[in-house]
Amino acid sequence: LADAPDLSEIMAYHDTAGSKRDRMAGAKWLARLGVEAQPDNVVVVSGAQHGILVAVASVVGPGELVLAESHTYPGFQGCARLLGLRVRPVAMDDQGILPEALEAACAVDKPRLLYCMPALQNPTAAVMGPERRAEIVEIARRFDLTLVQDEIHGGLVEDPGPSLSALAPENVITIAGVSKVLLPGLRIAYLTGPPARAALFPELIWSSSWMASALGSELATRWIEDGTADRIVRERRQELDARQAIAHRCFARQTFRMPRGAYHLWLTIPEHWDVQAYVDAALDRGIAVTPANAFVVAPARADRAVRISLTGVQDHGRLEESLTNLAELATRRASLRTSVRL
Ligand SMILES: Cc1ncc(COP(=O)(O)O)c(C=O)c1O
Repeated sequence: LADAPDLSEIMAYHDTAGSKRDRMAGAKWLARLGVEAQPDNVVVVSGAQHGILVAVASVVGPGELVLAESHTYPGFQGCARLLGLRVRPVAMDDQGILPEALEAACAVDKPRLLYCMPALQNPTAAVMGPERRAEIVEIARRFDLTLVQDEIHGGLVEDPGPSLSALAPENVITIAGVSKVLLPGLRIAYLTGPPARAALFPELIWSSSWMASALGSELATRWIEDGTADRIVRERRQELDARQAIAHRCFARQTFRMPRGAYHLWLTIPEHWDVQAYVDAALDRGIAVTPANAFVVAPARADRAVRISLTGVQDHGRLEESLTNLAELATRRASLRTSVRL
């Protein structure tokens, strides 16, 4: 890149929505998630977090009510606070949003937006199967609900089924980040949606960040164009398979959710533990895990579960040691000190 003859052009101010070439690369990245988008309808944003802001602000405004999975990515709740939105939880199972719960929420509250993660949901690792996707989309159509799908992990699922966007292009905005697959430091994600919404994106990008990083976009574009991104995705999947094999060995006697491709697992905490006491006891052993209540959307009740990252340590030996430690801790009775929280 340093030797590029057009380096000064690359690093100059671009169109707010991204250069034509970057938007074409975005369309290619979206296509690997099953999202068909014309480059003119794709914008480059400064990471998926920024994508959430732009997507949500293109649909709703201060004081409005929006829906989210009962356990959701905390960055979404942060964005909702920033925009002055109220968030209501929708009950979920191992395939994400429950159709009957969504239907009831739509009938009562008439929300205009649902934020969700159909593939490898953060934090519960739920994956929406094809039938569930069709049911959710049918409800969205009936109630004129916009689905903002965050596909941050989408590229890692082997066969996710049809994209919500392919099922109902007029109701779905897709955020396709590269952080979890390429590099978070690039600060790049791609956003697409129905043309009427997509037309609002540039103004929202301009007012919140002017444009995405030219350096990050250029690297992502080159990697998407020359096949490096595909190679990295393959390598990531292999690495995750190896890490998941370790987790399966260590948690053979536990109840957990970890579909193929997941960066994390959702471990059910046995009844004899208070969840926070388990988290504290793990921390005493030098291992950080995140309890369900860090993700829960009020007034839903937090699951008796913790999220365990499989990528927090580089070394496989240390991962195995930590997971063995956590599994052993789960089977053990809590000590009086940690089980009784004063
Ligand atoms: C579901 C989800 N969306 C968005 C983000 C933010 O991604 P980015 O680094 O692209 O802003 C994260 C980061 O952890 C995430 O888990």
